[in-house]
Amino acid sequence: MKVLGINGSHRAGKGTAALLQAALDGAAEQGTALGVPVSGELVELSRLDIGFCIGCNRCLAQTSCALADDMNDLYEKLRDADVVLLASPDYFGTVSARMKNFMDRTRPFHMVENVLTGKVGGALSTAGLNNCGGEGTLALLDSWFATQGMLAVHPRTQGAPLAGGVVATGFAGLSEEGQPQWRSVKADKIGFALARQLGREATCLAARLA
Ligand SMILES: Cc1cc2nc3c(=O)[nH]c(=O)nc-3n(C[C@H](O)[C@H](O)[C@H](O)COP(=O)(O)O)c2cc1C
Repeated sequence: MKVLGINGSHRAGKGTAALLQAALDGAAEQGTALGVPVSGELVELSRLDIGFCIGCNRCLAQTSCALADDMNDLYEKLRDADVVLLASPDYFGTVSARMKNFMDRTRPFHMVENVLTGKVGGALSTAGLNNCGGEGTLALLDSWFATQGMLAVHPRTQGAPLAGGVVATGFAGLSEEGQPQWRSVKADKIGFALARQLGREATCLAARLA
């Protein structure tokens, strides 16, 4: 089973990448438990040359894009994937411009034919603060899965529910003076537990569908 993780952060290898890696780790664990070999890959959009969609509408008539850049390789990876995990930092309550452009560039995959329909998806976000747009970021990622006809999973932990979506934040509370205190998003144990769970559940669903 192929699990493709796509990171829309401008900072490769930082908080959003770590959260996405936790989901890929969860997917690999679940694959081992099910006896299904999982091959995971984390793609950093910031390391690729992906131009803006130019709105030429060629994709209204054919399943291809007029631009020639690193998106071509990514189209092949998306075609091959059983599970696609999208991760983005929360920027003003939504995805990064880099992730949004990736989404725009996938328009050729659902205008003439539904290339990604039936594949499994899962959304993850990092944010600076709690209650400051992380859920809006997840909602936009979920809307991409819906537009592509994909089946988005949402993590449900065993026992007490921790949250409905994967948002890890760098918020460490307020000082006595009311100033926000910061930490690495990697210290958000709930966010990382949910990311692992998302990876596990995405693998379970993809295995059931196979
Ligand atoms: C331009 C910009 C806008 C941001 N907007 C928000 C926001 O609306 N809400 C929030 O909680 N954090 C916001 N953040 C903080 C990032 O979501 C946070 O630092 C994220 O974890 C960065 O991920 P990275 O480590 O992969 O770069 C913003 C950061 C930047 C640079």
